[in-house]
Amino acid sequence: MDDARLVAEARRVAERAYAPYSGFRVGAVVVADDGRRFEGANVENSAYPSTVCAEAAAIAQAASQGVRKIDTVAVACIDAEGAGYPCGNCRQMMVEFGVDRILVDAPDGFLTHTLEELIPFGFRFSD
Ligand code: THU
Repeated sequence: MDDARLVAEARRVAERAYAPYSGFRVGAVVVADDGRRFEGANVENSAYPSTVCAEAAAIAQAASQGVRKIDTVAVACIDAEGAGYPCGNCRQMMVEFGVDRILVDAPDGFLTHTLEELIPFGFRFSD
């Protein structure tokens, strides 16, 4: 699946978000190194810190199925006015699984970033 279609898929996943508190629906699609795709949407909770981000949900799905290396994450915040970038926690989760590229949906298409651009000096126990 090409990049534009991955981002379009993330937008469709966002429509399934459970976001009654923020009204901010996010979808993510993870592409594992073996080509498998995993989806996640944000799931909010009335105890706000219990909320799960879309990227975190998708990465957890992938890792739970045995994935240990992720090539690409596409993310779409369909209620954002501009590009909706992954939060810091999700960026650190991407460090764990060696994400190469992040595709961020935006009003005029999508933006492509490396993980190094989004989280230089991410935490690891060792280099
Ligand atoms: N959210 C995500 O799903 N991913 C991010 O990277 C940032 C924020 C969600 C969490 C919450 O449901 C809503 O967006 C507003 O913060």
